[in-house]
Amino acid sequence: MSFASRFARITVGVIVTLAVVSALFFAFAWHSSIDPVEPPTASAFDHAVVLRGAQLAALGECVTCHTAADGRVFAGGRAIPTPFGTIYSTNITPDPLTGIGQWSLAAFERAMRAGVDRKGRDLYPAFPYDHFTLLRDEDVKSLYAYLMTRQPVRVPAHPNELDFPLNFRPLLAGWKLLFFRQGRYRQDRSHDETWNRGAYLAEGLAHCGACHTPRNLLGAEKKDQHFGGGESENWHAYAINSASQSPVPWEANTLQFYLRNGWHALHGVARGPMTPVVENMAGVPETDVQAMAAYVISLMGQPTPERVRHAEGLATRKVAPPVAAQPDNVGATLYTAACAVCHESGRPLPFGGIDLALSIGVSGEDPTNLLHVVLEGLPAAGEAPMPIMPGFAHTLSDPQLLALLTYLRSRFAAKPLWSDTETAIRHAQEAERRR
Ligand code: HEC
Ligand code: HEC
Ligand code: HEC
Repeated sequence: MSFASRFARITVGVIVTLAVVSALFFAFAWHSSIDPVEPPTASAFDHAVVLRGAQLAALGECVTCHTAADGRVFAGGRAIPTPFGTIYSTNITPDPLTGIGQWSLAAFERAMRAGVDRKGRDLYPAFPYDHFTLLRDEDVKSLYAYLMTRQPVRVPAHPNELDFPLNFRPLLAGWKLLFFRQGRYRQDRSHDETWNRGAYLAEGLAHCGACHTPRNLLGAEKKDQHFGGGESENWHAYAINSASQSPVPWEANTLQFYLRNGWHALHGVARGPMTPVVENMAGVPETDVQAMAAYVISLMGQPTPERVRHAEGLATRKVAPPVAAQPDNVGATLYTAACAVCHESGRPLPFGGIDLALSIGVSGEDPTNLLHVVLEGLPAAGEAPMPIMPGFAHTLSDPQLLALLTYLRSRFAAKPLWSDTETAIRHAQEAERRR
C-alpha cells in the first residue's frame, strides 16, 4: 500500500471516529424542551407545604444567591465571581416572561436534579445542582410550591460575563460527563437517623461542600478532599473535616450553637460568605441544625491528644498577661497599640474581641480571612446588635501588616507564618483599593 493511500485511510478513520464521538456527545448533551404551563395559582398549593418550602429555601440559600444587592427578592442578577468569569443568578420568581412562571414541576425538578433549564440548556454549576440532586421528591415539591407562591417580578436575566469557550453552554455537557453524577441521597445503614438526616441536609440542600471543599482547575469539587477547606468569593472556607485547625476542637453542641447563632465564645464570629449561611439557619428547625452538626462532627473524628491538651490549656488560662513594650518588634508594638485594648478586654462575645489564641483566623490554614478582618474590620450591620471592629486598611502598610501577622501567628498560634503571606497581603491590599 502506498504511503498516500495509507495516509488517506488513516485520515478517513480519524474523521469517522471524530464524527461518531461528537454524535454520541451531542446525543448525550441534547435535552428536550419541557412545554410551558400556565403559572399555577396560589390556591393550587397546600399551605403547610408552602411553609415547609420556606424552611427548605432558607437552608438552600436560594434567596442569598438569587437576590441582587439592591434587587427584589428572588429576581436574580446577583453577580457570582468564579475563576472563569462572572455568572449572574437568574430570576426564579413566578413571572411567566422573565422568571419560572411557565415552568412545570417536572421542569423545576429537572433543573434541581440535572442542571438543565426548561428549554433544555445546560446550567452552570455555580448553581449547586451537584448538591441539590440529592433532594427527595417531596422536598423538591415543597420548594416548587414556595417559589410559585412568591410575588412575580419582571426582571430579565443579566448576561453572564464568561470568556469564550466557557460562554458556550453545550460544553457544560462535557463537564457534567466528567464530574457530575445525578443521584438521590442513599441512607447509610451503619449510622443512625440523626446522622443520616444531617448528611442528607449538609451534602444536599445546605451544600456545605460547595464552599468548604477545594476545587480542581475545572471548578469541580475534589471528592478526595471532601470538606478539606475551599474558597468562596475571595474568602477561605476552613477545613471542617479531620484537617480542622480550630484551636479548640469543635463538638456537636458548639457547632450547633455556632450554626444557629453565627458565633461561639470558644470560636469567634462567622464572617464573609458564612454570615448569610448562619442568618438563614435561623429559619431552620433546631433538630435539623442539630443533625447537621452531628454529621459534620463525625467527619472531623476524634481530635488528637495534643489538640485536646492544647484546648484544655486555652480554656483554663486567663486572658494573656499584657506584654512588656518591645520597641524593636513592630508586630508586637502594633498589636499592643491597636488590638489589645479590645482583644484582651475579657468582655464576652459577641461584643468583646475574642482572645486571639482561640481564633481560627490566626490558627487556620490560610491568612485570607484574617486579612479581611484586619483591613475591613467588622462593620455594624443593620438593626441587630453586632460586634464592631474598626478596619485598618488605610492605617497599615504592607510591611507593617506582615510584621503584625508574623507576631500574631507566633504568639497566638505558635505556628510558622503561612508560606504565601506576602502575596496574600498584596492581593488583599489591592482588593481593598478597588473597594
Ligand atoms: C451559590 C448560588 C446559588 C444558590 C445557593 C442557588 N442558586 Fe439557583 N442558580 C444560581 C445561578 C448562578 C443560576 C444560573 C445558572 C446558569 O445561568 O447557568 C441558577 C439557576 C437556577 C434555576 C434555573 C433558572 C433558569 O431560569 O434557568 C433554578 C430553578 C434555580 N436556580 C433554583 C434555585 C433554588 C430553588 C435554590 C435554593 C434551593 C437555588 N437556586 C440556590 C445560583 C444559585
Ligand atoms: C457560601 C459559602 C459557604 C457555605 C455554603 C458554608 N460555609 Fe461554612 N464557612 C464559609 C466561610 C467563608 C467560612 C470562614 C468564615 C470566617 O472566617 O469567619 C466558614 C466557616 C465555617 C466554620 C468555622 C470554621 C472554624 O474552624 O472556625 C464552620 C464550622 C462552618 N463554616 C460550617 C459550615 C457548615 C456545616 C455548612 C453547611 C451547613 C457551611 N459551613 C456552609 C463559607 C461557607
Ligand atoms: C474596638 C475594638 C477592636 C479593636 C481595636 C480590634 N478588634 Fe478585632 N474584633 C473586635 C470584635 C468585637 C470582634 C468580633 C468578635 C470576635 O470574633 O472576636 C473582632 C474580631 C477579630 C478577629 C476574628 C476573631 C475570630 O476568629 O472570630 C480577628 C482575627 C481580629 N479581630 C483581629 C484584630 C487585630 C489584629 C486588631 C488590631 C490590628 C484588632 N482585631 C482590633 C474588636 C476589636
